[in-house]
Amino acid sequence: MAEKNKRDGGTLSSSVSRRTFLKTLGGGAAAAAIPGAALAAPIRRARGDEARVLGPGKAKFVLEVNGQKKEVEAEPRLTLLDVLRNHLDLTGAKNICDMGECGGCTVLIDDVPLYSCLTLALDARGRKITTVEGLETDRLNPTQMAFVKHDAFQCGFCTPGWIMSVEALRRKGGQPDDETIREALTGNLCRCSAYPKILEAARAVAGKGGGDAKKHY
Ligand code: FES
Ligand code: FES
Repeated sequence: MAEKNKRDGGTLSSSVSRRTFLKTLGGGAAAAAIPGAALAAPIRRARGDEARVLGPGKAKFVLEVNGQKKEVEAEPRLTLLDVLRNHLDLTGAKNICDMGECGGCTVLIDDVPLYSCLTLALDARGRKITTVEGLETDRLNPTQMAFVKHDAFQCGFCTPGWIMSVEALRRKGGQPDDETIREALTGNLCRCSAYPKILEAARAVAGKGGGDAKKHY
């Protein structure tokens, strides 16, 4: 190695250890990187897209639930289901499996049915969240009415989740056939096996609410 260094013009002294060389190189790289980063931060700030780090403690944020803005102070690790039930007193969405298997926690986010037990509350910021409590105004909404009319429940524990999945189907509009309806409801389970009646209720309203999704508040 020493011989090679001499032939290269002696720029790397044989007395310089590999460790010293790497440290020198690393310091140079860091020195080059710092001004770049220092320049980048103000640019990101000016553009307003600098990532904000929230948590691990409580953070304040706003959710739009059933047409109302709600300020929440909660740990960023919490699911939407936790925040709805334990911070906003909206207990319609049920915590049954807490792992995305039963659909009891289903809510609508921008009219799409999602498991609130698998959704971080923070990720629902800026989106329209609808829970089963948001369907009823002065009277039951058509999906709720269909469940009553068709006797589509037994113990009722799973019912809010089913209603939200059927409500999404109702709001979507169109003329869903039986296969489409069944497919849309595959994310919900009923331990009482009220499936035939639930299907009847779903058939009665599926596709009938196209375009009036925002009129429920
Ligand atoms: S509680 Fe969310 S899917 Fe079961
Ligand atoms: S009605 Fe009892 S679990 Fe569905």
